[in-house]
Amino acid sequence: MRIVSTIAEARGAVRALRTNGRSIGLVPTMGALHAGHVSLVRAAREQCDAVVVSIFVNPTQFGPNEDFAKYPRTWDADCALLESEGVDLILAPIATEMYPAGASTFVEVEGVSDRLDGASRPGHFRGVSTVVAKLFHIVSPDKAFFGQKDAAQVAVLRKMVRDLNFDLELVVCPTVREADGLALSSRNRYLSVEERRQALVLSRALQRVEERVAQGVLDAATLIDDALAVLASEPGIRLDYFKVVDPDTLEDVADVRNSALAAIAVFVGPTRLIDNAVIAPPR
Ligand code: PAF
Repeated sequence: MRIVSTIAEARGAVRALRTNGRSIGLVPTMGALHAGHVSLVRAAREQCDAVVVSIFVNPTQFGPNEDFAKYPRTWDADCALLESEGVDLILAPIATEMYPAGASTFVEVEGVSDRLDGASRPGHFRGVSTVVAKLFHIVSPDKAFFGQKDAAQVAVLRKMVRDLNFDLELVVCPTVREADGLALSSRNRYLSVEERRQALVLSRALQRVEERVAQGVLDAATLIDDALAVLASEPGIRLDYFKVVDPDTLEDVADVRNSALAAIAVFVGPTRLIDNAVIAPPR
């Protein structure tokens, strides 16, 4: 496994990996890797000839009062894990090369970037789409792998790939959960034992909505009320949003006669957690 940190080295390393028409899978990450990331790497290994993982805690996707400074950085453990997963190349770009002094060019996917997490975290998706566009330009992957847990990010990036004609396939892998339902997230490391218990209310609320849809309840307002009732059972958390939206546009839907996304964000103590479920009427 090779590790590179400059864009020139990355381009050279990717060129070498691509010999004889080998395909390249890219897994963009911010490090602090967990089993969710491993599932992306394994999907990339199954679907592509060579796997590149980027590790970059991207400053432009954090708001001024967010956790950029304290975001977990676990470099040695991440490298060991990726080595054991047979990754070919780690790209850990240098911040000043990704954003050279005076850089003022950003990628903004209008509309969809202002919904769900984009509404709560202004500028977040501009940072995500800008850094992912840069990684796509540097690596030119055939496929890029993202987790369904970040469903709004997926909607933004899908639209970016389409609107800017990136020649790649975006592959979305299922959310990986702990046995008790908690969706894996690098930010779970912030949770105390009590907060981790409280955080289970996210998956409980989504499960309730899934059960109600399975019973034939398709009205979004009723489903939201059901979810809010579950969330109210855990007074320690603070709701950011619970919404039922179109998975592509992230706009509210009135009912789930077509497939929809039930998406939730809450603060557990100071930690903001998200989760979601794709819901569709029973056949
Ligand atoms: O999902 C993440 O970890 C980040 O948003 C990403 C896609 C690596 C961009 O920094």
